[in-house]
Amino acid sequence: MSPSKIRIGLIGLGDMGRGHLECLKSFPSVEIVALCDTHPERLTNAQKSVASSPKTYEKYQEFLNHPGLEAVFVSVPNFLHTEIGLEVLKAGKHLFLEKPLAHTLSDGKKLADASQKTNLIFQVGHIYRYSPFYLEMMEWIQKDAVGTPLLLWCHEFRQPFPQREWFYDKTKSGDTFVEKNCHHFDLFNWVTQDKPKQVVSFGGQSVLKPGTQISCSYCPDSPQTLKTNTTIDHGWVLVEYQKSAKANLGLSMFLRPPNEIWRGLELGVIGSNGKMLIGNVDFGTMTLYGGTKKEEKKEIKNPTPQWHSGMHEEHEAFLNSIQTGQKPYASPQMAYEALILSCAAQDSLQSKKIILLPP
Ligand SMILES: NC(=O)c1ccc[n+]([C@@H]2O[C@H](COP(=O)([O-])OP(=O)(O)OC[C@H]3O[C@@H](n4cnc5c(N)ncnc54)[C@H](O)[C@@H]3O)[C@@H](O)[C@H]2O)c1
Repeated sequence: MSPSKIRIGLIGLGDMGRGHLECLKSFPSVEIVALCDTHPERLTNAQKSVASSPKTYEKYQEFLNHPGLEAVFVSVPNFLHTEIGLEVLKAGKHLFLEKPLAHTLSDGKKLADASQKTNLIFQVGHIYRYSPFYLEMMEWIQKDAVGTPLLLWCHEFRQPFPQREWFYDKTKSGDTFVEKNCHHFDLFNWVTQDKPKQVVSFGGQSVLKPGTQISCSYCPDSPQTLKTNTTIDHGWVLVEYQKSAKANLGLSMFLRPPNEIWRGLELGVIGSNGKMLIGNVDFGTMTLYGGTKKEEKKEIKNPTPQWHSGMHEEHEAFLNSIQTGQKPYASPQMAYEALILSCAAQDSLQSKKIILLPP
């Protein structure tokens, strides 16, 4: 064990946890010392993939007592974020917690409050905050490409969630606007640099009904038939911000692969100078329309294409925060603001009302 290395452990070694593990292995400053998952096969497979064969645990309480453990990556189902996240902090370890901050607003508040009371590093997996693509797009917007952003949209038209039970149980995932769209609501908050004033949504479950066969292209499990599903599979959300920007989110969870790969995730902004900026992170292209030029294009390719856009950079930032004590950019408070929007969109669906948010 080298004393100069940061000793890291991971709780949750499903699709995302394995992604974190693989990427962390590429950092010479990291030593993976312990792994935890309740699924024995995923745990053993993860252990085999690390040359130093880290110690494995099925109970996170025992894992947290691993000698010398300094920092923990938590990639478990959303309803466990609060319980496990708080225990990691209580054990005195730096915490990287996957998004959404939590599956409910009240749980999210507990985590945001806990982050205010600790000197430990606590970063949330809002991966796009570290994506070179979005950093460039936001810089362009901040340098006045469109003037004041006034109309925004984001289209997440994709295939179903992985065929794992918790994604399809809203009491565990928080439902789709929380589980999936916290990313996109965070992008709206980032572009507008403002707080939302009111939210209205429409949506429901039209296709992914019990009995439907599900297979997600990035989940290694064999296709499965949905036994139950309490989550929505499509929706539209409208958000009005305090300083008058309006944002629109479109969601479909029932496009069949590979549609999402062909179309990509689109974020569009029209601003007060009459120009329109459209970015597509999956293609690495952004185009500014309007003004004297017909169009202006930028291409920002992912410098580490083996990882999701922003993953290598979010790890780098977390490790840097541990070394310098600097508070992370993707803070629990930032994640909480995204969760407020996600939960308001869910509330509007349930109540069939416009949700007014406090200033
Ligand atoms: N940042 C992103 O872009 C992104 C992408 C995908 C998923 N995620 C997030 O990552 C988290 C995990 O998602 P996933 O797709 O990997 O799900 P998954 O179901 O593939 O993996 C979850 C893992 O947690 C394990 N687990 C469950 N309870 C546990 C416990 N008590 N102790 C230890 N391990 C436990 C499961 O056995 C499983 O292996 C979710 O919060 C999800 O929202 C983030």
